[in-house]
Amino acid sequence: SYVIAEPCIDVMDRACIDECPVDCIYEGPRKLYIHPDECIDCSACEPACPVEAIFFAEDLPTEWHVYADANVDFFTDLGSPGGAAAIGRRDRDAACVAARPIPAI
Ligand code: F3S
Ligand code: F3S
Repeated sequence: SYVIAEPCIDVMDRACIDECPVDCIYEGPRKLYIHPDECIDCSACEPACPVEAIFFAEDLPTEWHVYADANVDFFTDLGSPGGAAAIGRRDRDAACVAARPIPAI
């Protein structure tokens, strides 16, 4: 499936959401996550992201492989709801995202 990597953190442009035909891009407090089982690999989201945060999992830069794990982590307690719109913004991020320092304003 596709994976949203580090550039999305604290940016959250959300342009990707409008492109996804199966509504499988879910929102956490500081980042968005593509559901690894619900994504149909259509790739429509990838060019929409202004900060180039979205990659096919196999094409993730080595330093961002952790975001493929974060993608799974984010959904362990949620399962497969079959649509992000009904879920809204969740109150937790994957651990590796939550641990990132909050940028100074
Ligand atoms: Fe994030 Fe890019 Fe989507 S910044 S919310 S992955 S458009
Ligand atoms: Fe949706 Fe992107 Fe997958 S548009 S189906 S999350 S490749």
